[in-house]
Amino acid sequence: MGSLQVRAIHPGFGAEVSGLEPKVPLADDTIAQLRHLFDEKGLLVFRDIDADLRFQTYLSLLLIGEDPLANPDQSLDSPSARRELLVSNREEGGNAPVGRLLYHSDYMWRDDVFRLLSLYGLKVEQPTSPTMFVSAAHGWETLPDELRARVEGLYAIHGQNASYDVRSGGDADVLLPKFADEETIRLPIAFRHPRTGQTLLYVTPQFTQRIDGLSDADSEALLGELFDHLYRPDVEVQHLWRERDLVMWDNIALQHARPNITYEGPARTLRKTFAPPPGANASKRPEFTTVGA
Ligand SMILES: [Fe+2]
Repeated sequence: MGSLQVRAIHPGFGAEVSGLEPKVPLADDTIAQLRHLFDEKGLLVFRDIDADLRFQTYLSLLLIGEDPLANPDQSLDSPSARRELLVSNREEGGNAPVGRLLYHSDYMWRDDVFRLLSLYGLKVEQPTSPTMFVSAAHGWETLPDELRARVEGLYAIHGQNASYDVRSGGDADVLLPKFADEETIRLPIAFRHPRTGQTLLYVTPQFTQRIDGLSDADSEALLGELFDHLYRPDVEVQHLWRERDLVMWDNIALQHARPNITYEGPARTLRKTFAPPPGANASKRPEFTTVGA
C-alpha cells in the first residue's frame, strides 16, 4: 500500500496515477485504492505504462467492481476478450478513423450502457488531437439554482438521431454515427449514477434527442443552456496523448469528445476497451459519416 502517487488533474474530476505496476492480478489493497479513486474522480490517467490488452481489460473490469479472475464470463483469454479494437487514422478497419466527435457517452440510450471506457496510446505522432472530457456529476453540482429548478423532474430522450448536425454549428467535419437500430431511452435529466449514487446532468449533444414534453424550440433552447453550462472551457479536461498513456473513465459520469482528425494528419492509434465487454452490443457498432459527406 502507498506505492501509488496521485495527482489531481482538475478540481472537479480526474487524477493522474503513477507507480502502478501493470500485472495480473494486482494486490487487494491496490485494487481497493484504485476503485475508490475511480469512483471519486471518474477519470484515471496512467502515463509511461506498458499495458497489453489483457491488463487493460482486467483493470477496466476491476474498476467497476467486477472480479474478472473469478467470473468465467469475463475470461481475459477468451477470443472476444482478445479481439483488439483500435481507434485509428492509420490501421485498416480502425474505428471512427477521422472526423470530430461532439460530447457524448458511448451507447447512453441503452439500459446496459458501458460503465467504463479506456484508451491506450499505441502509436501517437505529434501534434495529435486530444481527447476532451467533462464531468456530468460536476455539471450537476455546479448548475445554477435557477437552471436546476427548471430541469428538476424533467426527462430527456436519448437515441442515435439527435440534432448534432444542427448543434455542430455547420461544421462539416463532425461525425454522425449511424446505428443499426432505432432504440431510445427516457431518463431523468438529473440522472442518478447506478454505482456511485451521484446526481448527473445527463444530456449530451450527440445522443440527447429532446426533452420530453417540451416543444421542439423550447427543448432545443433549454438543452442549449445546459450544454453552455456543461462545456464551459474552464471545466473541460484535454488529454494530450503520448504513446503508452492509459486513460480510463466512467462513461456514465463523464462525457468525451475530440477535435477533428484526418487521414493525412499525425498517426493516432489508440486501443479501446469497454466494460462490461460489448457482448450483445458487438454487432451494433456504428458506421460513421460526416456532416459534409
Ligand atoms: Fe465515444
